[in-house]
Amino acid sequence: MARSVAELRAQVRDWRAAGLTVALVPTMGALHAGHMSLVRLALTKADRVVVSVFVNPTQFGPTEDFSAYPRQPEQDSAAIAAAGGHLVYLPTVAEMYPEGASTMVEVSGVSAGLCGDARPGHFRGVATIVTKLLLQALPDVAVFGEKDFQQLMVIRRLVRDLDIPVEVIGAPIVREADGLAMSSRNAYLSAEERPVAARIHAILTETAGALAGGRPVTEACAAATAALLDSGFRAVDYLELRDAETLTPVTELTRPARLFVAAFLGRTRLIDNIGVQP
Ligand code: PAJ
Repeated sequence: MARSVAELRAQVRDWRAAGLTVALVPTMGALHAGHMSLVRLALTKADRVVVSVFVNPTQFGPTEDFSAYPRQPEQDSAAIAAAGGHLVYLPTVAEMYPEGASTMVEVSGVSAGLCGDARPGHFRGVATIVTKLLLQALPDVAVFGEKDFQQLMVIRRLVRDLDIPVEVIGAPIVREADGLAMSSRNAYLSAEERPVAARIHAILTETAGALAGGRPVTEACAAATAALLDSGFRAVDYLELRDAETLTPVTELTRPARLFVAAFLGRTRLIDNIGVQP
C-alpha cells in the first residue's frame, strides 16, 4: 500500500526499471463488481495495476454526500489484492491538497450540460484530481467506466489537451441481475426503493429501442421522464440524448448517440446511460 506520492512514485519507478508497464484505476472506494471489472481489464493492458482509493472532496457540492460517502479501506484493499491488483494507493486529503493548493483543472465543452449543470464544480474537481493522479503515477494506461460516460469524455479531453502521456481506456457498465448499474451509492437505497431503481435501465432500454425505431427525440425523452416519475422516482435531473462523441444535444438521430439520465429515488441520485444507434 502507498499513502504518499513519494511511496507511489518509488514503486512505479522500480517497476519501470524492471521494464514493466503500469495501469492506473482511479476510484473512490466502496468497491463493487463494476470497479473490479476495471481492475481485470487493466490487468490485460499492463504488467502492474495500481488502484487509487480517494474520496475526493473537491468533486462534491456543499450539499452533497462527501461525509456520508461509504469508506471501507481494509475491505477495498483485500478486494483489490484478491483481484490481482498490485498496489493500492490510499492518499490522505492533506497529501492530495496540501495547505495553499490553489490550482484547478477546468475542461469546458464536454463538462457543460448533464451532470455539469446539475452538479456545479463537480467536473472541475474530477478533472483536477484525475490530472493529479495521472501525474503522480504516470501510468501507461488508465481505465475508467462508461457508467460515468461524461466523466470519461472529460478525462479523454484533458489528457489530450494537456499532453498527458497516457492511454485512456473506457470499460462497459457492469449491472446487477435486474439491470441496475452497480454504484457505491446503491447502498443508500431502501428495500422498497431497490426494485424501483432497476426501472431506470428498463426505461432507457425501451427508449433507446423507440429512438432507433424512429420515434421523435423530444417525444421519446418526455415519455421516458414520465415513466420514471410514474415508477416512483421523485425527480428527474435530466434525461437527454447527446452525441456519443461530442456530447452536444441531439434532436435528430443521424449519428451514434447516447441517452443519459440522472434521477432521484428518495434522497439517492442515480445516473445511467445507454448507446443509441440510428
Ligand atoms: P467511482 O465512482 O468510485 O468510480 C471509479 C470508476 O469505476 C469510474 O471510472 C467509474 O466509471 C467506474 N464504475 C463505477 N461503477 C461502474 C459500473 N457499474 N460499471 C463500470 N464501471 C463503473 O468515478 C469516480 O469514482 C471518481 O470520479 C474518480 C474518477 C475516481 C475521481 O475522483
